[in-house]
Amino acid sequence: MAISIRFSKKTPASADTIILLVFKSKTLSVTAESITPEQKKFITSALAKNPTFTAACGQTLTLTLAGSATAARYVMLGLGEASAFSALKAEEAGGKLYAALKGGSAKSLAIVLDKSLSQKTINTATLAAHLACGFNLRSYTFDHYKSKKNKNPEAVKPPSSLDLVLSDQTAAQKIYGSLEAQIKGVFSARDLVNEPPNILYPESYAKRIAAELKPLGVQVDIFDEKRLEKLGMGGILGVGQGSDKPPRVVIMRWNGGTKKTKSAPIALVGKGMTFDSGGISIKPAAGMDEMKMDMGGSAAVVGTLKALALRKAKVNVVGIVGLAENMPSGTAYRPADILTMYSGKTVEVLNTDAEGRLVLGDCLSYVQEIYKPQIIIDLATLTGAIMVALGHEYCGTFVNNNDLWAKLEKSSQNTDEKLWRMPLDEAWRKDIEANFADIQNIGKSTGRAGACTAAAFLEHFIENNTPWAHLDIAGTAWRNADKPTVPKFGSGFGVRLLCDLIAQNYED
Ligand code: BES
Ligand code: MN
Ligand code: ZN
Repeated sequence: MAISIRFSKKTPASADTIILLVFKSKTLSVTAESITPEQKKFITSALAKNPTFTAACGQTLTLTLAGSATAARYVMLGLGEASAFSALKAEEAGGKLYAALKGGSAKSLAIVLDKSLSQKTINTATLAAHLACGFNLRSYTFDHYKSKKNKNPEAVKPPSSLDLVLSDQTAAQKIYGSLEAQIKGVFSARDLVNEPPNILYPESYAKRIAAELKPLGVQVDIFDEKRLEKLGMGGILGVGQGSDKPPRVVIMRWNGGTKKTKSAPIALVGKGMTFDSGGISIKPAAGMDEMKMDMGGSAAVVGTLKALALRKAKVNVVGIVGLAENMPSGTAYRPADILTMYSGKTVEVLNTDAEGRLVLGDCLSYVQEIYKPQIIIDLATLTGAIMVALGHEYCGTFVNNNDLWAKLEKSSQNTDEKLWRMPLDEAWRKDIEANFADIQNIGKSTGRAGACTAAAFLEHFIENNTPWAHLDIAGTAWRNADKPTVPKFGSGFGVRLLCDLIAQNYED
């Protein structure tokens, strides 16, 4: 159940838990109306007597106050160093607050923000909005398939409402409005990644995209297998031919641009392998279940379009996702097959598990030919190799344009979706030149620089040096917020990064 988040001027009487914010100096700053002078005295001495509570960012200390007018429970929430505070720190604190309270008896929370909290780097309204954002993001759950949920009366229910109490509540509400659009986009992306592959397969996925985005004003076009054949999309058709579930390509257009001379769109391209068994070059059994997340790139594209449409962003964006299931069967494509891609280039398949690049190649060519985008960003859970290099923390980013990289790097800092630039090189473009076709789908230097040869393959489908970034999100799309090192859930990685990139650089 979604948490209701409100911004108000006064602490609601229904609040059972009041949260007070404390910087590392541990001096309390609260409005007179939220606590009495005696209470303030009590809290101040409690803070002094608890040396383990250092007010580190997100640290909490719960105190029970006798004779309190509003609520029995007071939670001190640390914000860390005042001088190092930022919107991201506020999100961290908000997220940790949720994690600390979710198993307890706090149900209706109120965070009281005093004007004196305002820092050089951040004002109270921004602080409040980002606290709420971090809190909400952390509240995400995916329990759709737990048949017993809600039936256990003993199960602890998480907090149901959060009020942020501050004088400039209108400003905070406004900032939160656009953050909330992003949160909804992130949640959609996480949901899509977490869905099992028997429920989410190309056809059902395409329908779900239409159902989610069309009501928001996004134009959605679905290409079925017949259409793909007519178009000559040999890459995605080859990958999908081993499955009983035929592939789909979905095009999503958000035309929010307001300039008289229509500006060229931003193209977002996503890999949407609803399940990647490896095909005839089959993967080992252990951990194969995780390959339901091989559509994380497409989920980030769908989530971003949702966020843009929700806040009616003044920008033209075209999203394209290639949806397929990679399966071994009597009809499956095989090593040695030669596929003719949409662009006309021929590809010798040497490993059917290097399937994502075949799907993306067709999508990249199509979106350039039809929409002439000003920039292209693709997101794909493309290689295990990127995880060898960067683990689950950083997303490997291949960019053919320094200006686009600078923008991405800035948005990465703004959102804490970490990017690490990786090299594109002529050597790897050569490494995939083939014996019997134009190119082959794995490098000749097998087992080396796998993420780089995959990027070089995609580069063969970029025309006229169009600014392009390829985000290999194999490590970052699948991550658990509570235990970042144990990935078991969709993270929604990419949505916030792309939202920020577009808002900062491409809106009218
Ligand atoms: N979907 C996988 C990459 C992947 C692996 C994503 C683990 C997330 C977690 C991709 O299709 C793949 O199988 N890549 C191969 C390429 C190889 C055959 C050249 C890989 O990385 O092993
Ligand atoms: Mn694969
Ligand atoms: Zn794959």
